[in-house]
Amino acid sequence: MTRALQGIFLSLLLSVSVAKANETPNTLREINLTAAAATAVIAALQDKINTGTARPDDIDPNKLKASYHAAYGRLANRDMASIQEAEARRIHEVMDRALEQVVTEFRPDILKGGQDAFVPAFFRAQLFTRFNDLIGDRYRAVVTNRRHELINGDSAPERVIGNAEILKQINEWLERGHMQPEMRSAGGISFGFWPMTITEPCMVCHQRNGLQQRIGQFGGATVIISNR
Ligand code: HEC
Repeated sequence: MTRALQGIFLSLLLSVSVAKANETPNTLREINLTAAAATAVIAALQDKINTGTARPDDIDPNKLKASYHAAYGRLANRDMASIQEAEARRIHEVMDRALEQVVTEFRPDILKGGQDAFVPAFFRAQLFTRFNDLIGDRYRAVVTNRRHELINGDSAPERVIGNAEILKQINEWLERGHMQPEMRSAGGISFGFWPMTITEPCMVCHQRNGLQQRIGQFGGATVIISNR
């Protein structure tokens, strides 16, 4: 083999291993992005849900799925249907099913409505529970916050994160109110951290749920762990 050819092979080999190394962070990002798009669709229905005026047509699973794909397109700046990569497609399929299951199961609550009857955070927690079940042991996606700002104790970091090393790192970011998204790996397990910021609707509703927060303040995080 000539040196030039060896060089080409070597760089091919390197680019393959770089692509592999990026694969997991990309899939973690994809899970966060799809969940954010789906949650935005439910958040847009909050006025109707809170005033008890949501109609069956508003929560038709196929319509919601179409709105969610459109929201994804705006967030990701690309068309979901155009994505060919196998793992991303699997994530999209599973998130579609998770969304369908959640809106079917909570249909009576959503239609009955009432103040805070079905809030975006609750939707996201339900979505992740179903997503985690449907995708198997491959990923675990959760929403959590620091202990003194929790509304639901079931979302406490130590309740939703099993890996001690990852828990330690997440707790550090939560306590500090770390505002930057992070992507790390611990003992070969990749995990991502996406912080949330308190805006007015979050603050107002959390206040009704007994939590005092300020606009612009750290408001918890989505954590996604890969078990692959
Ligand atoms: C309409 C009411 C409402 C709005 C708006 C709302 N939340 Fe919440 N949030 C809740 C409730 C209720 C829970 C507890 C849900 C549960 O039982 O799991 C919650 C839970 C959470 C959690 C999980 C940890 C915990 O405290 O249990 C996070 C993180 C969170 N909200 C962040 C936000 C952020 C950030 C926003 C705005 C972008 C927001 N929420 C908007 C009502 C709301």
